[in-house]
Amino acid sequence: MPLDAANDVRRVVAGTVEEFAPGQRTIIVPFRGRAGIGVFNVNGQYYALRNLCPHKLGPLCVGRVSGRPVAAAPPSSYLGEPEIVMDGEVLRCPWHLWEFDLTTGQCLVDPQMRVKMYPVAIEDGQVVVYAERVDLPVPPPAHSRAMAENGPQTVGEDGAV
Ligand code: FES
Repeated sequence: MPLDAANDVRRVVAGTVEEFAPGQRTIIVPFRGRAGIGVFNVNGQYYALRNLCPHKLGPLCVGRVSGRPVAAAPPSSYLGEPEIVMDGEVLRCPWHLWEFDLTTGQCLVDPQMRVKMYPVAIEDGQVVVYAERVDLPVPPPAHSRAMAENGPQTVGEDGAV
């Protein structure tokens, strides 16, 4: 049942808090052509992003998580190591390496782009994402559900099940 029938929002349990140490992630419902949703623990806070890069639709949420190096001078004028900012908050798409702020969905390469984010809540020790139906799997057809619930049916000689 939809949690919010007007907006077709659904409650999806991504796992337990114990399964999500800082720096860990999971991708829920990558199924039947749906992009799925990446859920990340960023320094103890949880964020959920659509697993679809707004650049060319790459699988964004399987990308590397890191920080951003910031240098006071160009590399040619060596002045030591660059400073790392946003440590653990930057998600890099595996296709063309564009970077996104995990905490806001903002693209760090093109300020016009942003990846869709979803509300996350901790409920009874579970990490819960409130997702839209468009991002969730298509329910199996009715005959598949019947098979799963009742097992295969045999057809008698008269054609009756
Ligand atoms: S598809 Fe993600 S950077 Fe191009």
